[in-house]
Amino acid sequence: MNPPFPYALLNLDALRANLERVRALAPRSKVLAVIKANAYGHGLVQVAHALHAAHGFAVARVDEGIALRQAGVLKRIVVLQGFLEPEQLKAHWAWRLEPVIHTLSQIDLLEANGPTRQPLRIWLKLDSGMHRLGLTPQEFNTALARLKRLFPPRALALMTHLACADEPDNPATAAQLTQFAALTAGLNLARSIANSAAILTEPASHGDWVRPGLMLYGVSPFANRSARDLGLTPVMSLKSRVIAIKTVAKGEAVGYGGSWIAPRVSRLGIVAAGYGDGYPREVAPEAKVLIEGRRVPVVGRVSMDTLQVDLTDFPEVPVGAEAILWGEGLPVEEVARWAGTIPYTLLSRVAARVPKIEFQTSYEPRQNRL
Ligand SMILES: Cc1ncc(COP(=O)(O)O)c(C=O)c1O
Repeated sequence: MNPPFPYALLNLDALRANLERVRALAPRSKVLAVIKANAYGHGLVQVAHALHAAHGFAVARVDEGIALRQAGVLKRIVVLQGFLEPEQLKAHWAWRLEPVIHTLSQIDLLEANGPTRQPLRIWLKLDSGMHRLGLTPQEFNTALARLKRLFPPRALALMTHLACADEPDNPATAAQLTQFAALTAGLNLARSIANSAAILTEPASHGDWVRPGLMLYGVSPFANRSARDLGLTPVMSLKSRVIAIKTVAKGEAVGYGGSWIAPRVSRLGIVAAGYGDGYPREVAPEAKVLIEGRRVPVVGRVSMDTLQVDLTDFPEVPVGAEAILWGEGLPVEEVARWAGTIPYTLLSRVAARVPKIEFQTSYEPRQNRL
């Protein structure tokens, strides 16, 4: 039976090749594969099982970590937001999750609950300039001293996050690296800084652990460099079908609001994909869909379950033809530009109703050992 449409086809060979690319770029670093937000829309558990060559995984929230453990993932799991409440802290112990400590109130909670329990592995996060999560430089040393009273040093790692690594000439990155180096030098604890953009362009940031997200999915973090140039292969192809074809007279208005007026007698294809699947409603008039290898214009407003394409110049395209919304041959980076957004949002918004279908050419046993 054909897969229901739309569906997201996941190329697991590409996923693993992208991980190999990370390893080649940062050969001395361990890899914490960032699989938060349902693995950027690709499927949390599926991606974790496929990436068993990673040294560990990073998720945003406790629930994501628990879901991985329940699915049999045994590797290290870092929870980037850590815990806020005692119940969440308990879950870290119960499920052997590793919290990121980014605020002093988390250390208060650890001190109140910690000494009677097994040691946790802790990632202490410095705000080196991004001003999102992380301790200020003034708080950092005190926080570290308090943690060292609770846990053995080997349980502690240090991290920070870069705000502008996707702009290679931005001086903010060097300033952040200097700040982090100054506060962590000589401590002899594992360090982690680099996201995808930094892995690709800032070898000085690689440290003991790199934290790739976007590049694992075969997508470029840079506005002016393609994934292909960076040696990455897209993992997801969002596919559907033309489910109806109709002809409209010149001057007919098409779709909600009648925003597109047929400039000639037009052959329209209705594709079963819309914003309810995660295709962006905001795409610009130059947006295209790939049908039988050709780039076909999207016309009129995108609806919840469908969008229209102009097939007037493609009279041979039949009902049932496959339509690629993004993926191989139509990078998600390009669709993101048409929608005035970044690929992260498109991928992470692929709807739950869109099935994720894996394929791989090589047989890989589902192992996820420590
Ligand atoms: C703390 C942290 N590290 C690493 C990443 C991975 O970033 P990227 O997807 O740009 O590689 C993220 C993602 O936002 C993050 O929040």
